[in-house]
Amino acid sequence: MKKNIAVLVSGKGSNAKNICAFFQKSEIASVKLICSNKKNRPLKSFSNEIGVNYYFLDKRNVDFFDEFINYTKALNIDFVVLAGFLLKVPKKLVELYAGKIINIHPSLLPKYGGKGMYGMNIHNLVIKNKEKYSGITIHFVNEEYDSGAIIFQHKYELKKNETTESLAKEIQKIEHSFFPKIILETIKKPL
Ligand code: GRF
Repeated sequence: MKKNIAVLVSGKGSNAKNICAFFQKSEIASVKLICSNKKNRPLKSFSNEIGVNYYFLDKRNVDFFDEFINYTKALNIDFVVLAGFLLKVPKKLVELYAGKIINIHPSLLPKYGGKGMYGMNIHNLVIKNKEKYSGITIHFVNEEYDSGAIIFQHKYELKKNETTESLAKEIQKIEHSFFPKIILETIKKPL
């Protein structure tokens, strides 16, 4: 039986789109749901066009995560992928999908991980601290920020004149090239 993936985002969703494209050709799994906690019309239209369910996780609703959890159950979601998702994942979801929630982080964890460490905040610090390397980490999610078991890391050597913006672009390219493949490998061989 094909596995069903839910992709959760807080940003533009370029990783989510890239993951959808990759799994459209897969026999192993497919993206069944895209969920955003920010209003994201382009991503909603994209989901509609490719026939993937779209869910707006509205923080203003009491029990907003409970409703989402019921929805994932109704859709028979097997794996949850966090692709630039900034809300803390509640215990209930972590327990329900134990070893089946995968996150991508734009640094070489444990460096630049934890609360407040996301997106440009990370790249700014990496440049400010004159780091020689940065990269990506793909890891399982537990109840603490960025501290679940590491599945995969890819190192990037900063260019001499690297800026926050150029670094962000390079890191995103790396995310796009590795994330779908690592998700597939993890689905084939879960924890
Ligand atoms: C990614 O770089 C992710 O690692 C970071 O936020 C970015 C999300 O980009 N935490 P997008 O929404 O996939 O375009």
